[in-house]
Amino acid sequence: MEYSAKMLKEDALKGKTFVVTGGGSGLGKSMSTYFLELGAAVVITSRNTDKLLAVKDELETKTGGRVAAIGCDVRNYDEVENMVAESLEIFGKIDGLVNNAAGNFISPTERLSANAFDTIIDIVLKGTKNCTLALGKHWIENKETNKIVLNIVTTYAFTGSGYVVPSATAKAGVLALTRSLAIEWAKYGIRSNAIAPGPFPTEGAWNRLVPGDLKDKFDLTKKVPLKRYGNHQELANLAAYLVSDFSAYINGEVIVIDGGEWLKGAGQFNLLEQIPESMWDRVEMTIRSKNKKE
Ligand code: HXC
Ligand code: NAP
Repeated sequence: MEYSAKMLKEDALKGKTFVVTGGGSGLGKSMSTYFLELGAAVVITSRNTDKLLAVKDELETKTGGRVAAIGCDVRNYDEVENMVAESLEIFGKIDGLVNNAAGNFISPTERLSANAFDTIIDIVLKGTKNCTLALGKHWIENKETNKIVLNIVTTYAFTGSGYVVPSATAKAGVLALTRSLAIEWAKYGIRSNAIAPGPFPTEGAWNRLVPGDLKDKFDLTKKVPLKRYGNHQELANLAAYLVSDFSAYINGEVIVIDGGEWLKGAGQFNLLEQIPESMWDRVEMTIRSKNKKE
């Protein structure tokens, strides 16, 4: 099956400008690439300016689009305001914000220092709040409409998860922010949606979530009913649709793209898939025999 094909029609994002936090690596880079291919201009922003400048060159050469690389730590509101001001100076307007920057690592919670817990909350929840607030204020004050905030969360934003508790706590907050502002800011023409990805291999996530030989010990595809990782283009397709005008009636939604991973964990009898096909005749006979006696 071809699941790495590009979905939207040519120029679907022409004339639009998007800010993608964490746009210099992993999923942020994949989304930025596709937005550019669809005709948008993109601001990629994160802490590592050297990395951003190299990615700017790479993406401009690859797509022919316009990229601004702006250093900014999303934890710091002043830096976020400066990033927004600089983006506006370069492109004149911003049509959408993708809150993709994140920090995370696996750890038993009791091993974490207070600062370690805060660091993740600050990047994920406070960072998303900072960018959303700074841009939202700009759009509302200037009466600019048809704007979109797209937040990248995870499926454990709704289930919770051990060993990544600061991330789960923060992502749950981001989901609440998404749903709350979807309603409150709809009157200003600002939509808010979220994507909850399952496992999509990236260097940043894999180094911190399945470090070293844990990669070999835990095959994350085994948890996925479709038995494979997500392909970055699949996520980029969904993100491009959600920031485009084609999704104009979608607001306050979180779209899961995980091959069925989280539901597999939730469904009480899903573990019965371990029963081989050949055993089902015997299982059925046993159930039927009990039925007759009742
Ligand atoms: C315990 C740790 C630790 C670890 C850092 N700390 N790593 N504690 N175990 N493995 C502690 C430090 O000792 C310090 O606390 C505090 O955390 C802050 O660490 P710093 O290194 O000073 O922070 P900083 O330089 O700001 O770096 C932030 C970071 C780093 C989160 C620690 O990993 C980072 O830059 N990450 C960005 C990219 C990222 O995380 N990508 C993955 C996203 S994946 P003390 O008390 O000593 O001061 C994702 C996927 C979800 O979200 C779902 C997947 C399926
Ligand atoms: P990644 O490559 O490590 O991306 C994280 C990005 O955030 C980096 O570009 C990093 O750049 C930036 N960042 C970190 N701290 C920052 C800060 N304080 N200020 C500004 N930028 C900061 O990981 P990824 O896998 O692509 O993750 C992208 C998003 O997808 C995250 O929200 C993650 O939670 C989500 N997600 C990923 C998966 C997956 O399987 N990969 C699954 C579910 C959800 P700098 O280091 O330059 O700052």
